[in-house]
Amino acid sequence: MNILLTGGLGFIGSHTAVVLAQQGHQVVILDNLCNSQMEVLANLESITGKKLRFYEADIREGLALRKILSDNQIEAVMHFAGLKSVAESAQDPLKYYDNNVCGTINLIEAMQAEKINKFIFSSSATVYGVPQYLPYDEDHPLEPINTYGKTKLQVEEILQDLVKSDPSWSVVALRYFNPVGAHESGLIGESPKGVPNNLMPYICQVASGKLPHLNIFGDDYETKDGTGERDYIHVMDLAEGHVAALNFVNQHPGFHAINLGTGVSYSVYDLIGAFEQAANSMIVRKVQPRRSGDLAIYYAKADKAKNLLGWQAKRDLQVMCKSGWNFHKQKS
Ligand SMILES: NC(=O)c1ccc[n+]([C@@H]2O[C@H](COP(=O)([O-])OP(=O)(O)OC[C@H]3O[C@@H](n4cnc5c(N)ncnc54)[C@H](O)[C@@H]3O)[C@@H](O)[C@H]2O)c1
Repeated sequence: MNILLTGGLGFIGSHTAVVLAQQGHQVVILDNLCNSQMEVLANLESITGKKLRFYEADIREGLALRKILSDNQIEAVMHFAGLKSVAESAQDPLKYYDNNVCGTINLIEAMQAEKINKFIFSSSATVYGVPQYLPYDEDHPLEPINTYGKTKLQVEEILQDLVKSDPSWSVVALRYFNPVGAHESGLIGESPKGVPNNLMPYICQVASGKLPHLNIFGDDYETKDGTGERDYIHVMDLAEGHVAALNFVNQHPGFHAINLGTGVSYSVYDLIGAFEQAANSMIVRKVQPRRSGDLAIYYAKADKAKNLLGWQAKRDLQVMCKSGWNFHKQKS
């Protein structure tokens, strides 16, 4: 199929591009490079051995979008483009609503005009908010506690209304848990601009001496060792989940929200321990007070993805840490 990946040079989009291209799909990438670099494209081409079509464009540019969709006879869109920092979304909410919500409306309007109605959306576990029970299943109440999560929920609601108004649309909102790791080649991985927000790239920068120590925000939570617990998932598992979702949207009109997680939670200390083993180095750490807005623990119920998509995560914490570190070493 001809598939447009918005945000396809970013962390999750680039890994998905590899799996799609290797399965014979025609991958077209659109990215405005606000959180990615052009060199990712060359690395994608060297991993896949294929030339990939790339457009430096913004999802808020309606006319450009329509032209890209029609010139490439796009049949389905995977929408990764978005801003993802919880902290920044609190400081600059309008930037987040504009990019994540208005940008998505603009994209689906362009799709509607070009009569394309298969859509896979990068949603997030942040849509659930404070756990009323765990694991979060897809029927858990949706009460995000930050602006970033609200933008994801708003888009899901817009997509649901769209499907109600026109049942020919086929939409999957994939609610990702905590993606980490990198492609085994070490050529692509998570490479945020500025100081990393996410734990794994931060640990990598401490291990390589770029950052002096890792801050652990709270070691007095009611978790197995007092630190926060998350459902870390290897980015290649996530990428394969998108291919499974693509097969699904081809046959199932409607709106479907599906968790992509492993169903297992690991603490910050678990992740550090696995990383120290993988990198054979000590991570200097400092325990700091809890951060407001952080949840103690959450993880996915992953059964719906298994039942509907026939997908389940395969890679363990060691593989996540080894591949993440391998990417970081090659890059620096
Ligand atoms: N990484 C995570 O922890 C995580 C968890 C849950 C959900 N998500 C969602 O998954 C998606 C992909 O995340 P990621 O980790 O790959 O992030 P990323 O920042 O690495 O990738 C996003 C890409 O989108 C591009 N982009 C952003 N706004 C754009 C715009 N207006 N027009 C065109 N391109 C634009 C960026 O340049 C970047 O290359 C995001 O929507 C994010 O909110 C990520």
